[in-house]
Amino acid sequence: MDAQPNSPEARDIRYHLHSYTNARKHQEAGPMIIEKGEGIYVEDINGNRYIEAMAGLWSVAVGFSEPRLVEAATRQMSKLPFYHNFTHKGHSPLIDLAEKLVKMAPVPMSKAFFTNSGSEANDTAMKMIWYRSNALGQPQRKKIISRKRGYHGVTIAAASLTGLPNNQISFDLPIANVLHTSSPHYWREALPGESEDQFSTRLANDLEQLILAEGPETIAAFFGEPVMGAGGVVVPPAGYWEKIQAVLNKYDILLVADEVICGFGRTGEMFGSQTFGMKPDIMVMSKQISSSYLPISALLINDRVFEPLADESNRIGTFGHGFTAGGHPVAAAVALENLNIIEERDLVSNAREVGAHMQKRLRELASHELVGEVRGIGLIAAVELVADKATKAPWGQPGALGGLANSLLQQNGVISRNMGDALAFCPPLIITREQVDAMVDALKVSLDAAAKQVRG
Ligand SMILES: Cc1ncc(COP(=O)(O)O)c(C=O)c1O
Repeated sequence: MDAQPNSPEARDIRYHLHSYTNARKHQEAGPMIIEKGEGIYVEDINGNRYIEAMAGLWSVAVGFSEPRLVEAATRQMSKLPFYHNFTHKGHSPLIDLAEKLVKMAPVPMSKAFFTNSGSEANDTAMKMIWYRSNALGQPQRKKIISRKRGYHGVTIAAASLTGLPNNQISFDLPIANVLHTSSPHYWREALPGESEDQFSTRLANDLEQLILAEGPETIAAFFGEPVMGAGGVVVPPAGYWEKIQAVLNKYDILLVADEVICGFGRTGEMFGSQTFGMKPDIMVMSKQISSSYLPISALLINDRVFEPLADESNRIGTFGHGFTAGGHPVAAAVALENLNIIEERDLVSNAREVGAHMQKRLRELASHELVGEVRGIGLIAAVELVADKATKAPWGQPGALGGLANSLLQQNGVISRNMGDALAFCPPLIITREQVDAMVDALKVSLDAAAKQVRG
């Protein structure tokens, strides 16, 4: 029989190397091909519908079928499909987006700079920081501190900032001048009897010891996600950011808040920096900025960064950095419309209110025999699975149980993602309480099925 035009048989899948995929296993397993989206749902080419509980890649705030974003793109595409912002040129969508972002920022910011991905934005942040140190006559101040389990992307600089083995092993990373301090994963890493506050104090101490060992005059900046995403949805323990910032201030070290996941409502405030009282010098944004309908990312920098950078560019003759498609007019127009929708529909309140419901419903699963911890805030959460609740031991290889539960959940109509044994939930900000209930019900059924397999 001839293959249907949309069937996997009709496509030759041999030519595509997938991101974040075991390339050898993929030759046997093949891809899951997603064909269309509607609201919080996506549908594969066989007509199966799924709740997209990861909002794609933590990113589709307004759902998968927002006509206003399509119209904004079409309008801009017809008017000016491309222009750049090199050599004093500009265009209206980008000027408007820069103004909007600087005015939305929860702390005084001076300028917005545009890139295409979270990784490029973090790479750019690192270059700006080095440039600034040179401008200030402090060429020795080049070291950057990030955290184990942190995720900042995959370019050479961003993957170096990332604190996850898979992004560094066999890539010969991290590069020099990037240091990693302890991760704020209380449930995994606190000492017996240690309170959250004591744990935070210990981590701030670890940071200070690292700074002193390296020489405070050599440390330029600290990068951190308000809530860690890809590291397993790690919500910082009580007092964490306050104590970390006290150390950074003591040694005059810049703070970069990587808001690529937390930005634009995810944690129940517009920015994660607000939720945790962070006062960053640089904010890095992407994903929900355009609901990922088109690629765009941005950095906001304050005057501590901008002023020396401006002087240095004047001394050299130009700020020699920028990407052809950085701040693309169609992506900028989509981002502006997306941010308008987030504000008009008050999706930040939805993240807070429906998010509280999601956290409550997920925590009902804490007593399940496979659940070690449920954690999260707003519309981002993780359910970490263990074979033994007392010792927190995994089932066989770390990640095996997470992988099993993830595939059972997918069979039950929900797309999640397992980071090791932690199943993540980060649905579109438009999700309703009823849809959350459907998602958690499917998870419960899947965990019961996983338990049966685990106990044999
Ligand atoms: C916090 C954070 N920073 C940076 C990135 C990298 O973004 P991109 O994949 O667009 O390069 C990600 C991607 O997941 C992220 O979660």
